[in-house]
Amino acid sequence: MKRVKIHDKEFELFISHEKIQSVVEQMAEKMNAELVGKNPLFLCILNGSFMFAAELFKRINFVESEISFVKLASYVGDQTTGTVKELIGLNEDIEGRTVVVLEDIVDTGITIDNIQQQLKRMNPKEVLVATMLLKPDALKKDVDLKYVGIEIPNDFIVGCGLDYDGHGRNLIDIYSIVKE
Ligand code: HPA
Ligand code: MG
Repeated sequence: MKRVKIHDKEFELFISHEKIQSVVEQMAEKMNAELVGKNPLFLCILNGSFMFAAELFKRINFVESEISFVKLASYVGDQTTGTVKELIGLNEDIEGRTVVVLEDIVDTGITIDNIQQQLKRMNPKEVLVATMLLKPDALKKDVDLKYVGIEIPNDFIVGCGLDYDGHGRNLIDIYSIVKE
């Protein structure tokens, strides 16, 4: 099994690039059928989602669609108190629009729930969430996910945009941590 070491941890090949591509292709096909004519605004949540967003957006086959890139500001204060992260960098007026949030991964669901709440305050027509990966066993919130790529176990992974302490985002495949 192909392995990679990042910082102090070992990871092994978990999901191939080919598998990711075929899953993203299916997600795009669904969106092509369901979102055409809606002039959707895709919102890529940086940093992790940039690879997924690129793979997906190039497969959207209608021209009337836009993409924008936003970030969540770092925690101010203590993470354990559930301090809200502010969505920054959104320059578009989303009032009355169909917004499709692009996430690399949903695990606890706290972040995506928070993003949805912030966006809904801006009076969009609808906020749809598309996530490349989902860890169902990690969910702590009942979140409404419209497009889900692959459900995975609750193990730490890297690659295809996902990092371990800044490294590993460039890996073309997804790797899972080796448990000794
Ligand atoms: N790896 C990297 N980043 C993450 C993960 C993961 O497994 N889950 C949530 N963010
Ligand atoms: Mg990260």
